[in-house]
Amino acid sequence: MRPAVGKGRIWRGALLALGLTLLAGAPLQAEYGDVVFNRRAEKEGVRPVIFSHWFHRIRFRCKVCHYEFGFEMRAGANDVSMSDIIDGKFCGMCHDGEMAWSPERCDLCHSGRRGLETGIIGGHQTLGPGRW
Ligand code: HEC
Ligand code: HEC
Ligand code: HEC
Repeated sequence: MRPAVGKGRIWRGALLALGLTLLAGAPLQAEYGDVVFNRRAEKEGVRPVIFSHWFHRIRFRCKVCHYEFGFEMRAGANDVSMSDIIDGKFCGMCHDGEMAWSPERCDLCHSGRRGLETGIIGGHQTLGPGRW
């Protein structure tokens, strides 16, 4: 379930951003796929988390997450907990109810099917939540 995030809106935003990237002549990056976080989610009774790298990286520079926010560049390397997020770390740097919707919207992040393993799934430009 993803109540407030309309597919049409995401697509329009995505296509616009992609168009701007192409216009700017920036090289398109290699494949990143979607990231599955399931080091603790299922053990703690919630569905795995799906993070769409593509969706985010067309909006933000790499260094925002991989330098300023401290996400290590390796799937499964970051030990992210829900209390970190609520304290404004990792995903919570943006998902704070202002820059992006708040941590209360559990299902938007915990959208993965049970049994998915931590790591990368899909290719570049996959649409993340709702797909796996
Ligand atoms: C912005 C994305 C996001 C939102 C919104 C979110 N979570 Fe999480 N949550 C995560 C991530 C990432 C992890 C780490 C998962 C892992 O590595 O297994 C996590 C982990 C968890 C865990 C595992 C134990 C722990 O404390 O880390 C539980 C339980 C959990 N979330 C419950 C919730 C509940 C309940 C909500 C809504 C009130 C919620 N989450 C909303 C991203 C989110
Ligand atoms: C909005 C935040 C965000 C942005 C922007 C972002 N990333 Fe990531 N990246 C992540 C997260 C989260 C992970 C997964 C970390 C984990 O699983 O612990 C990740 C993982 C990776 C990985 C590891 C993939 C693998 O196969 O293990 C690479 C490489 C990477 N990012 C490169 C980049 C590059 C290059 C850019 C800019 C073009 C970028 N990232 C932009 C958040 C981001
Ligand atoms: C640099 C800021 C930033 C960080 C860090 C960040 N997000 Fe987001 N995220 C956003 C923004 C902005 C949106 C778009 C919000 C909107 O459309 O209202 C978004 C949207 C999303 C969506 C819905 C997009 C879709 O594909 O439908 C999910 C799910 C999501 N984020 C999960 C995460 C998770 C999980 C993490 C941590 C691993 C994370 N985000 C970290 C800024 C961020």
